[in-house]
Amino acid sequence: MGKNLKDDVIELLKSIWDSEEFTVVDSERTRRLRKELLTRLLSQMMTDDERARLYGLPTGCRIRENAKLLSPEQFKCGEYVWIGEGAILDATGGLEVGSHTTVASGCFVWTHSSVLSNLMMDNSSGNSYILRRKTVIGSGTFIGGPSVIYPGVTIGDRCVVLPMSVVTRDIPDNTMVGGSPARNIRGIDDVYIRQMIDFERELQSKN
Ligand SMILES: CC(C)(COP(=O)(O)OP(=O)(O)OC[C@H]1O[C@@H](n2cnc3c(N)ncnc32)[C@H](O)[C@@H]1OP(=O)(O)O)[C@@H](O)C(=O)NCCC(=O)NCCS
Repeated sequence: MGKNLKDDVIELLKSIWDSEEFTVVDSERTRRLRKELLTRLLSQMMTDDERARLYGLPTGCRIRENAKLLSPEQFKCGEYVWIGEGAILDATGGLEVGSHTTVASGCFVWTHSSVLSNLMMDNSSGNSYILRRKTVIGSGTFIGGPSVIYPGVTIGDRCVVLPMSVVTRDIPDNTMVGGSPARNIRGIDDVYIRQMIDFERELQSKN
């Protein structure tokens, strides 16, 4: 590397491309995955709203850098959903997220489990032991990051999952949960929300 950095980089890329170790397999699976990989790579240059549009998400959705969406075709997403940096949303078993919901940075939302594949000593690609369950997250819900949502779980509308929680069971509407495994912290009603708004406004007025 030196004066002609651009030429050097092109030369380096060419040497990697031409090396024997740089092999690609021509199969239906590889072609499908390659498209996903290239889409993700190119999307790194996009803004969060552009990235959401690239993945076909509706009005007002935003996806931050390094978030990963598995099987986007099985993802049913509401409007104004915000997906944080590095979150993994696995839609391989079917995933629904309602409108005005946040899945914050570093969250893992799962719809599959490979535990049986490991226990059965068959961890090969596409093995028949992978469990798949649809996961549902309601509208107006906040999933604090980093949290883990298990496959098959339904989280209701206007819920709060506090940061670093592991959600293993369904959560009814209007509920705040936290911890690992996530336990009920409190209910959420209009009075609680009003109190939070008033508290915040008062703090702001003092600054
Ligand atoms: C949701 C929120 C507004 C609630 O505020 P609050 O009404 O003042 O409630 P608290 O924060 O005190 O939490 C309520 C209870 O949950 C507990 N709790 C808070 N965070 C927790 C967590 N991550 N895991 C488990 N329990 C938690 C608190 O200790 C408290 O318990 P207590 O009543 O026994 O004392 C506030 O916790 C919040 O904003 N959290 C998310 C912050 C965040 O992730 N920001 C970055 C992304 S936008």
